[in-house]
Amino acid sequence: MNELIKAINELKKEKNAIILGHYYQKGEIQDIADYVGDSLALAQWAAKTEADIIVMCGVHFMGETAKVLCPDKKVLVPDMMAGCSLADSCPADQFAQFVKEHPGYTVISYVNTTAAVKAVTDVVVTSTNAKQIVESFPKDEKIIFGPDRNLGNYINSVTNRNMLLWDGACHVHEQFSVEKIMELKAQHPEALVLAHPECKSTVLKLADVVGSTAALLKYAVNHPENTYIVATESGILHEMQKKCPQTTFIPAPPNDSTCGCNECSFMRLNTLEKLYECLKNEAPEITVDPEVAKKAVKPIQRMLEISA
Ligand code: 13P
Repeated sequence: MNELIKAINELKKEKNAIILGHYYQKGEIQDIADYVGDSLALAQWAAKTEADIIVMCGVHFMGETAKVLCPDKKVLVPDMMAGCSLADSCPADQFAQFVKEHPGYTVISYVNTTAAVKAVTDVVVTSTNAKQIVESFPKDEKIIFGPDRNLGNYINSVTNRNMLLWDGACHVHEQFSVEKIMELKAQHPEALVLAHPECKSTVLKLADVVGSTAALLKYAVNHPENTYIVATESGILHEMQKKCPQTTFIPAPPNDSTCGCNECSFMRLNTLEKLYECLKNEAPEITVDPEVAKKAVKPIQRMLEISA
């Protein structure tokens, strides 16, 4: 293991590469990454890096976002099969048709989408800045929000709007069980529930804090004296536990506890071995059709400008 870490670090230096990692990655990947963050931070780091190669340790749409922002750089992902159920729930042709059927609507898309969906979008959001960006539009603006219906419903409720929602969801966040969280709360009455807005509204109703991975982490770091039940992909517990070694974090269980589905199987496809191979071979490489990229970059840049 140490040999592998050493070899990855040497290759990274030799090739002027940067490793970006999402909080849902395996702990060993988070530990070797130059930067670990939420979806917004990954896009921001990609946009400003001077490295020649970006290795995106996350899922495919994160690599695409980096490639769209940095067309002249090589963007690699350790495993090309690392997809996203939420992005898959919004095929670009169907979304483009939906947009066409609703003229006069502003299109706001969650970052968990393909570049082709972003290409028919006015502004991209992440869960960190969705509320801020939606509120930057007039109250009576007609808005299509896609693809996550849970995040969309949550933003509708906190901004008092009625955005038209695409019917997509993340298979991990959909799985959290209200009953099992209630049982955990009964066993740990002092515990606070931290929940990602991709969770169903019934789960969000139980939450003490709703936020992006970065927001949930920040809350725990600022209040390490609490015990937490964490309703998001359990990879985040690695960084939470690292930053708050004395704090008890309990991963919220899914409906079916035999399926291990509070872990995203796509995120977990990336391993140290694949990261090494990917740096050595400079593959697999993310490519985006230049015409699609030209359109997709605008709503991503718009998000970065609003979030600066
Ligand atoms: P954030 O890290 O932006 O909260 O998003 C979580 C997610 O859905 C990643 O796929």
